[in-house]
Amino acid sequence: MARQREFMNKIRTLWGETQPAACVETFGCQQNVADGQRLMGMLEACGFRFTGKPEKADLVLVNTCAVREHAEQRVFGNLGILTHTKKENPRQVIVLCGCMAQEERVANRVRESYRHVDLVFGPQALWKFPELLWQVYESRKRVFSIQDEHGSIAEGIPVVRERGVKAWVSIMYGCNNFCSYCIVPYVRGRERSRDPDAVLAEVRQLVREGYKDITLLGQNVNSYGNDLDISYDFADLLREIDQIEGEYWIRFMSSHPKDATKKLFDTMAGSRHVARQLHLPFQSGNDRVLREMNRRYTRAQYQELVAYARTVMPGLVLTSDVIIGFPGETEAEAMDTVSLVTEIGFDALFTFIYSPRPGTKAAEMPDPVPRAEKQKWFDTLLEVQNTESAARHRAYVGQTIRVLVDGESGDPAFPLSSRTEGNRLVRLKGGADRIGQFLDVKITDSNTWALYGEPV
Ligand code: SAM
Ligand code: SF4
Ligand code: F3S
Repeated sequence: MARQREFMNKIRTLWGETQPAACVETFGCQQNVADGQRLMGMLEACGFRFTGKPEKADLVLVNTCAVREHAEQRVFGNLGILTHTKKENPRQVIVLCGCMAQEERVANRVRESYRHVDLVFGPQALWKFPELLWQVYESRKRVFSIQDEHGSIAEGIPVVRERGVKAWVSIMYGCNNFCSYCIVPYVRGRERSRDPDAVLAEVRQLVREGYKDITLLGQNVNSYGNDLDISYDFADLLREIDQIEGEYWIRFMSSHPKDATKKLFDTMAGSRHVARQLHLPFQSGNDRVLREMNRRYTRAQYQELVAYARTVMPGLVLTSDVIIGFPGETEAEAMDTVSLVTEIGFDALFTFIYSPRPGTKAAEMPDPVPRAEKQKWFDTLLEVQNTESAARHRAYVGQTIRVLVDGESGDPAFPLSSRTEGNRLVRLKGGADRIGQFLDVKITDSNTWALYGEPV
C-alpha cells in the first residue's frame, strides 16, 4: 500500500485549480458495496470529489456483479449509455471493475465492443487501483488487469463510509466452495482471511467513531481462519469483538450451513453485542439437488442446525437464500424447497430463479424445464413466504421493542427508518434528531415487508 500511496499522490498532482469529480456506481452484494467504499477511498486520496451524475464526472467507475445474467445485462446497458457522456467529454475516464470484470468473456467483449472503457480490473486487483489509474493517465492507453492472482490481502486501503450508523467490515475475501451454480469463486479467487488483530482494530475504531450497526462480511464467514497459521476460528473472532466496550450490534453474512458449528451458536447466545440474527442460505430443500449443487449438507442436517440455533437463541431471526429451477430440478423437488420453507418458518427469504453462469459446472448440465414453468414454482414459493413474513410481522404488533434509528424513510407519516436487533425494518414516527439512537418503540402496525411504530 505504501507504493499505492505514492501513485495516489502522483495522481493528485495532475489536477489544477478545479477538483475533478468521480461518479461511482456499485452493483451486487455487500462485499461489493464494501469494495466500492474502498475504491471511493482511493479516489478521494487521488484528489476526487463525488457526483451522482455521470455526465458531470471526469471519471466514471462501474463496480459490477456477475452473479446472475440480469445483473450483467444491466451493466452492459449502463456502459452503452456512457458512450454519450464520453462523446461530450472525451477526456472522461471510464473504469469497469468488480466481479464481471474478472471474467475473461466479459473483458474480451469490452476490449472489442466497448472501446470507450479505459480501465478494466477484477476484485483481485482492487488494491492496486491507484497504480492502474496512473497508467491510464500517463499512457492514455487502455489498461486491462484481470489476471487470476488469488491475491494476498492489502491492509490500510482508505475507505469512504456512509456517514452515520452502519458500517461493513470485510473479514475475508474469496470463496473455496464452488457451489456448482456459482461464479463467485472464479471471480474472487480463493479464501483469504484478514489477520484477527486488523479486524479487531477496525471494529474498535468504528465503535469509537460512533458506528452502531457493524456487519462482518465474507462469502462464508464460517470458514474464517482456516487459511491462517493459528488455531483461531470465526467464533473466536466474534468472542473477541464482543469484548469491545460500547453500544453497538455486530452482524455477519453469509454463513454456509456445512461449516456452521454449535460453538458459533453458543458464542452468539453468550454475547452482549452479537445480534440474534442469522442469514443461513439453504438453496434447496431436496437432497438430490443439494448434492448436484455441491452444497455438502442435507435437508435433515440443515433442520438440525436451525433447531439447535433456536434452542440456544429463542426468538432468533432467521433468513435465507433459495434457488428455484436448478438444472434438472423437477416440480416435486422444487416443492421440497417450498415444504422446507413452511417447516422452518423464515423471517424473510431472498429468492432467485436459477441463472446459468458460463464457466460453472451447472451451466453444462441439461436444463429442460421452460422458464415459465420455473416461474410458477417460484410464485408458489413467494406466496408461501409472503404469508409467513406477514404473519411473523403481525406478531410484533402491540409489543415494545428496541430499535436502532438508521435514517430517513421517505414516508411522511413514518419519517424515520430503523432496524430491530433481528434486522427487521421498522418505520417510525419522530424527528431526524433521533438518527443514530437506540430507542424503545411500540409496534402499531405491520405488513409483509415492514413494521410501523412510535417511540415510547
Ligand atoms: N456466499 C453466499 C452463500 O453461500 O450463501 C452467497 C453468495 S451469492 C453472492 C448470493 C446468492 O445468490 C446465493 O446464496 C444464491 O442463492 C444466489 N445465486 C448464486 N448463483 C446463482 C445463480 N447462478 N443463479 C441464481 N441465483 C444464484
Ligand atoms: Fe457461491 Fe457457494 Fe461460495 Fe456462496 S459459498 S459464494 S454460493 S460458491
Ligand atoms: Fe457479490 Fe455479485 Fe460478486 S453478488 S461477490 S458482487 S458476483
